Amino acid sequence: MSGSAIYPGSFDPVTLGHVDIIERAAALFDRLTVAVVGNPSKAPMFDAAERVALLTGELEGVTCRDGGPVEVIAFDGLLVDLCRERATLTIVKGLRDAADLAIEQRMAQMNRQIGDVETVFLATAPCYSHLASSFVREIARFGGRLDGSVSPTVAAALLARVAEDL
Ligand code: PNS
Repeated sequence: MSGSAIYPGSFDPVTLGHVDIIERAAALFDRLTVAVVGNPSKAPMFDAAERVALLTGELEGVTCRDGGPVEVIAFDGLLVDLCRERATLTIVKGLRDAADLAIEQRMAQMNRQIGDVETVFLATAPCYSHLASSFVREIARFGGRLDGSVSPTVAAALLARVAEDL
């Protein structure tokens, strides 16, 4: 595969599952942009700038097919508009299970309808298919184990945020 792609998500916070998808997508596309979407219907634990900073740290040294770094941006609006601005025809998504497929298939169809953008799905690695940022936030709040779900840097950021909120 070649050309550019956009991998969107909330990334609140980035998990090892996200990083796996990004590394694999970067190996497929010449250029990859990770778009951190500030979803107004959710109250995030980390603001968009913090999520971008955590992702940027996780992706240090990850390169796309053209040898350049993975770009990480904060974004608000319709994904198809970002695709048009970037002259990108492809969205990348990770699929964990059938529940993801049910949602993602419809989003892919909608994005194709309103923006002529195709969505490429990468099957989540089995060791990460149970991970979710929402689980990670809850586990952090109650002092559970975060290893295997997020990097030590992200775990430290989670614990610091939980301590601030006490
Ligand atoms: O990590 P998430 O929360 O599952 O990601 C969902 C996300 C951000 C990819 C989705 O909400 C999205 O694409 N938002 C951008 C707004 C948009 O284009 N909506 C139309 C979807 S058909």
